[in-house]
Amino acid sequence: MEKYVIRGGAKLSGEVVVSGAKNAVVAIIPATILSDEPCVIENIPNISDVTITLQIMQEMGAKIRMLNKTTVEIDPRSLMNMSIPYEKAKLMRATTYFLGTLLGRFHSAHVSMPGGCNLGDRPIDQHLKCFSALGAQCEIDGGMINLRADKLVGNQIFFDKNSVGATINGIMAAVKAEGLTVIENAAKEPHVVDLANCLNSMGADIIGAGTDVIKIRGVRELHGTTYSVIPDQIEAGTFMAAAAATRSNILIRNVIPKHLEPITNKLLKIGVQVEQYDDAVRVIGGDNYVGTTIKTQPHPGFPTDMQPQMSAVLTCAKGASMVTESIFDNRFRYVDELRRMGANISVEGRVAVIEGVERLKGAPVKSTDLRAGAALIVAALSAEGTSEIYDIFHVERGYENMEIKLRGLGADIRKINEPDPVSDPVVKKAI
Ligand code: EPU
Repeated sequence: MEKYVIRGGAKLSGEVVVSGAKNAVVAIIPATILSDEPCVIENIPNISDVTITLQIMQEMGAKIRMLNKTTVEIDPRSLMNMSIPYEKAKLMRATTYFLGTLLGRFHSAHVSMPGGCNLGDRPIDQHLKCFSALGAQCEIDGGMINLRADKLVGNQIFFDKNSVGATINGIMAAVKAEGLTVIENAAKEPHVVDLANCLNSMGADIIGAGTDVIKIRGVRELHGTTYSVIPDQIEAGTFMAAAAATRSNILIRNVIPKHLEPITNKLLKIGVQVEQYDDAVRVIGGDNYVGTTIKTQPHPGFPTDMQPQMSAVLTCAKGASMVTESIFDNRFRYVDELRRMGANISVEGRVAVIEGVERLKGAPVKSTDLRAGAALIVAALSAEGTSEIYDIFHVERGYENMEIKLRGLGADIRKINEPDPVSDPVVKKAI
């Protein structure tokens, strides 16, 4: 069982380089299934969600070759349409993307209902609505989602809910469908645009990605590509939060500052300085922050994936802050852990009220999901004394070498492997 041990209080300094975007690459790798030739994908992060996605591709028969640490060549020509079982699908949400891409290539797909972070109810009705509109029959049987179509024909699809996953799946299923598909109320997140750009570089005809309306004109074939994944906006935002919380001055490189604007604006509002360059941002923490109001929204609003990390910063801002989570039902599970460190937070439904305290104190805490783990790291770096963060496998799903990057900035963080007490025969007998 691995944990992070963090001695808080060290000022961060220097530079950190952000890796490729998790939520883009977990769509782009399955998208290569639609290609009739090998594809080279660059700037892939070394995180466990990528390892699992590549493993699934390999098990289905694709040829995977790492050209260097961040570049993979995928030859999907020998890939067979095998089902993705529960053991794999439970590990991550993005296994749903195999539905759209397998349907697009083979006109059939069999994928177990997905897992991923437990953030409350995460239905897939909009994904299925989209597949049906394109002509697929959808059936859920024994926990498997089964899709089948004689042919896929473009259609007009209006999403009742703004969904990243359904938009990406809709694009992938429509790319080789006959005629024109129009997706309305589409998600506008940078990773949706990145997926569309990647598919266009393979010969797809997608316009409007990044706006509410995406038009996809079906093509018969897609060719190979060499495509570089965008930098991870949430990893960058997490380092921005870490610099703010520790009152430090750091340069965060390999970012697209435009993607960070919702985060930058909130940091500026509470009293953090942010300088923007072409592909970097410098964050300069201040001595006194003031509380603020945050409401998570689809892009270009404040991202739900930064809500926990930003709340960690606000635990020591002067006065009260109000944080409203409007995307997921259950994204405050980290609050109990922050309370263990002395934070003063009350939660009522989807609203958290944070009363700033002078300083957090180190404590043993547990990551409850990926961004919750990131928030605990931010809190622990700024706290007085030592924290131990358990269940860090959540963090490793989405952050490449987090502790190495933080150590490079001067943080006192170590990753320690210790035996799981529950697997100890004496403890096992007692419980
Ligand atoms: N929703 C529906 N029906 C659907 C799909 C979604 O009601 O068919 C609802 C969800 O319950 C939620 C809202 O729509 O209330 C938005 O969900 P969305 O589909 O946009 O989320 P997702 O595709 O499951 C992706 C990211 C999440 C990120 C959200 C929101 C990936 C692999 N995951 O999830 O990332 O929080 O979009 O931006 O791209 C993370 O990285 O920590 C993470 C959880």
